[in-house]
Amino acid sequence: MKVVVTRKIPGNGVKMLQDAGFEVTVGEQDGPMERSKLLETIKGADGVLGQLQDKVNEEYLTAVGSQLKIVANFAVGFDNFDLPALSSHNVIGTNTPDVLTEAVAEHAFALIMAITRRIVEAHKLALTQGSSFGPEVMLGMELKGKTLGVLGLGRIGSRVAEIGKAMGMNVIYYDVKQNPEFEQKVGAEFKATPDELLSASDIVSVHVPLLDSTRHLINADRLKMMKPTSYLINTSRGPVVDEVALVEALKNKTIAGAALDVGETEPKWAPGLVDLDNVVLTPHIASATTEARSAMGELAAENIIEVLSGRPPKTPVKKS
Ligand code: DGY
Repeated sequence: MKVVVTRKIPGNGVKMLQDAGFEVTVGEQDGPMERSKLLETIKGADGVLGQLQDKVNEEYLTAVGSQLKIVANFAVGFDNFDLPALSSHNVIGTNTPDVLTEAVAEHAFALIMAITRRIVEAHKLALTQGSSFGPEVMLGMELKGKTLGVLGLGRIGSRVAEIGKAMGMNVIYYDVKQNPEFEQKVGAEFKATPDELLSASDIVSVHVPLLDSTRHLINADRLKMMKPTSYLINTSRGPVVDEVALVEALKNKTIAGAALDVGETEPKWAPGLVDLDNVVLTPHIASATTEARSAMGELAAENIIEVLSGRPPKTPVKKS
């Protein structure tokens, strides 16, 4: 059977597929595979190990052919999947939950610390002026005693909440589902609406999937609800934040700063964002640890091996 891995991945995933006896083709290009090349390369595959930039829709599924059994996303998010199209073609979609939780949660905290302690600004200053103590130079904000608002209490949001608690923060959260057990365990407080969370937080960390209901969840009106001293962190999906509205809010000091790992229209940031001092930006690398990315490839490979061997996948995607 034929498996296409649309882009080179770290870890043993490709070897696992080869050892299972499949004929494996791996995309060797630097970036995501260009659409027409992708549609050509996946033709005839029984399984595809794909990237979140690969839109898995009617066009894609028709291009592969009716022998296709599984598309294994190299990501926990699967907003690139057209779920009705997958089910009408009888193709299983899988993702990579759990194995990247720690990496993403730690990156959210790296961003929180970078923006509140002005690490990028300070780094630039250190390069131009050397190291020189000044009583009022680069004053930032401490985390202990501040309120961390976790928007979305899935696996990653829960871990961010735990880390926040360990750092002495008050943790509040909003999710479509209240979780009294988690509240008890971690000492977190539920807020009944995103608006209540936004107005009470010193730091808002976004951890919701991209759905119709979460697109532009953080918009101009909601940014105005945040404290002028507060910070917005996004490691989920770019379109959850209206990036143009965010640029305005950062320019007008509606909020103190933002740190983003994801953009609304990747790979480009909204005009003006990169010129601001009160932002920290990383290029969608929250899960980029050797541990997480290797495990993601291996879990995706395992899903393909299971399905092509006639067994159920370990981590099928579920409609939210
Ligand atoms: C995901 O897994 O959904 C991330 O965005 C990439 O790690």
